[in-house]
Amino acid sequence: MGNKVTVRTLKKLKDNGEKFSMLTAYDFSTAKYLDGAGIDVVLIGDSLAMTALGYDSTNCVGVDEMTIFTKAVANGVQNAMVVTDMPFMSYTIDIPSALTNIGNMVKNGANAVKLEGCNDYIEKLIECTVNMGVPVMGHIGFTPQSQNVIGGHIIQGKTEETAQELLKQAKKLEKAGVFSIVLEMVPEDVAKMITQNISVPTISCGAGRYCDGFVMVCDDLFGKFDSFTPKFARRYGDMKTFITDCAKKYIEDIKNGTYPNENEVY
Ligand code: KIV
Repeated sequence: MGNKVTVRTLKKLKDNGEKFSMLTAYDFSTAKYLDGAGIDVVLIGDSLAMTALGYDSTNCVGVDEMTIFTKAVANGVQNAMVVTDMPFMSYTIDIPSALTNIGNMVKNGANAVKLEGCNDYIEKLIECTVNMGVPVMGHIGFTPQSQNVIGGHIIQGKTEETAQELLKQAKKLEKAGVFSIVLEMVPEDVAKMITQNISVPTISCGAGRYCDGFVMVCDDLFGKFDSFTPKFARRYGDMKTFITDCAKKYIEDIKNGTYPNENEVY
């Protein structure tokens, strides 16, 4: 428990000018290996709608699914902070139902939750959630749950006016009590300006090099998800080929009678 990453750890890293790492995870063993590798924050992202469940939008998952994935990931993690994405419509109807759904994630292993957007309602909800004892990670810039209103995967904060609006939102989230803020698909100079003007850590998701932390979808990192790869995602492996090759060799061994061999039988 001594090495557990908390809101204080992340704040200290920002204050010391040290970067931190965050990756998504959707299952027990992946979470266990990421934790063992020393990742600071593990996010049960609603991106699992696409990567783990095969839907075409994050808006297709609900509380029940996010709860199951949260349990699996939390079971694999010892030291990293476990953050669950609150899914579409699980926190926007009213504060009581939002707090019930948020509390449910914590009961199932989350150390914190992530909420998208910034408006009067979200600010109030952040205050209530923190008062209930649950840390909140904010998420502004491109917010996938609102992609139908935004009109697609569009970079946010490209004009002086919209960049200033993002800074205003970041300050409002900070005031409401978030412990960190994901900036998604924001120009690097805008993310840098926001990072320098708020005291809570920022996390870059396609927001350049000057945030305090960095997040990627683990399936992009592993080279596992092949439907699309955003510009900011860096592939460190080729799991698609690895899985395909393993399956092909297994099939071949069965066909040619070399699996199972004498050491693999009872
Ligand atoms: O759902 C997700 O995976 C996310 C991150 C990429 C920030 O929200």
